[in-house]
Amino acid sequence: MAWFSSRWHHFIFQHRKLNSDLWVLKNTLLPNSRTQFCNCLQSQNIHGQLAGNRLSLTRMPSSIFSNRRSTPNVANSYKGKFQHVQYSTRQDARRTKNLMIATYVSAAVGAVLLTAVGFRFYGRFRKRARGIEEIEVPHCGRRNRVICRYRGYSLPSVLTDTIVNDIPFFEVRPDDVWVVSFPKAGTTWTQEIVYLICNDCDFEKAKATNIEQRFPYLEFPVPGHREITKMDSPRFIKTHVPFSLLPKQLEEKSPKVIYIARNPKDTVVSLLSFLQMTNYFTFTGTTHDFAELFVEGKVLYGPWTKHVMEAWEQRNRDNVLFITYEDLHKDFRGTVREVARFLGKTLSEPQLRNLEQHCSFQNMSDNDSVNYSWMKGIWKEGRFLRKGEIGDWKRHLSPEMSAKLDTMVTSLEPAGLQFVDS
Ligand code: A3P
Repeated sequence: MAWFSSRWHHFIFQHRKLNSDLWVLKNTLLPNSRTQFCNCLQSQNIHGQLAGNRLSLTRMPSSIFSNRRSTPNVANSYKGKFQHVQYSTRQDARRTKNLMIATYVSAAVGAVLLTAVGFRFYGRFRKRARGIEEIEVPHCGRRNRVICRYRGYSLPSVLTDTIVNDIPFFEVRPDDVWVVSFPKAGTTWTQEIVYLICNDCDFEKAKATNIEQRFPYLEFPVPGHREITKMDSPRFIKTHVPFSLLPKQLEEKSPKVIYIARNPKDTVVSLLSFLQMTNYFTFTGTTHDFAELFVEGKVLYGPWTKHVMEAWEQRNRDNVLFITYEDLHKDFRGTVREVARFLGKTLSEPQLRNLEQHCSFQNMSDNDSVNYSWMKGIWKEGRFLRKGEIGDWKRHLSPEMSAKLDTMVTSLEPAGLQFVDS
């Protein structure tokens, strides 16, 4: 027993140098040696706990436990005397804890990544099953490189779900007024004209609320098709969705639909300028590259020819009116009268004059309810109403590209559809 006690004394004394505060001894201690051992601890001013055959030493004065490296050797030297000696330091515990945290974190990150990849694949699989194919567009940067092909159209991937799942089932009302177009065809111009014709040219009313609220964009998340469903009649609805993808009720309910088209050369230049104005567009190619994508139908809502042709085929329906940007430009009053007649309205000469003035390019550029200045956050530079001309394409497109775009127009001529571009 004396030997045992002295060994303990020696053990503790020797180990004062250790920077350890927990020892676990897996030997079975004799009952009376425990008391000696505890006394021994106390005499060294070391606080410890002995539970079964496990020993924890706590609150050892750290200043005298400096030589951590000696721990294994000293511990090993007791291996013969004791069945097994294990030691643990605070650093070991911290290291183990860190290792465990790192393991859990990596497992969690791995699980999140796997789930994300899984969702992506599942999303693609579901899209394929519904006839949607994701295609990558060159020069578009990471954020914009994907567009979705659905029933022959290139749709913005962020809007595809809405266009495919919700728009076909949107509830149409017979007294709705719709403006449908390929982007950059003069949609906003037409919207303002239509709104004013239907509201007895109440310019103050039109200026009081921005066009996005008065005449919401159907497939866009703001305000969103659900909000449009709740709007009071008569509703004014803008959309770029082509005829073949519009709500099924459109035929049956026969609301007034005005389609505006613009020559493809000015459309492509206006579209690129518009996209470059936004913070979210990361196209790195040239105007020529973009025009090439336009010809291939790989720009939003493309192909242009299919979009325009579907509307042209509907032109003889009583509830459909087909007009062009060039008509509005060259004969504003004549075209507005035609639109008013279609909407069942008559404009007086002063009203027509005031409307022409209100809807001039300059006045609309300065009018904060139609110039999209409220969407400041999304514009890099430039103005939504950029040039407002016919023939601006001549400053941007090469003769070779112009010839390619001409073939798009000539492909429509057999159907009786013609465009002027200067
Ligand atoms: P540019 O980019 O060639 O200037 P949309 O409303 O479909 O996005 O179309 C925008 C195009 O219509 C822009 O063409 C814009 O300047 C033009 N536009 C809008 N209001 C106009 C107006 N009052 N007169 C002439 N062009 C107008």
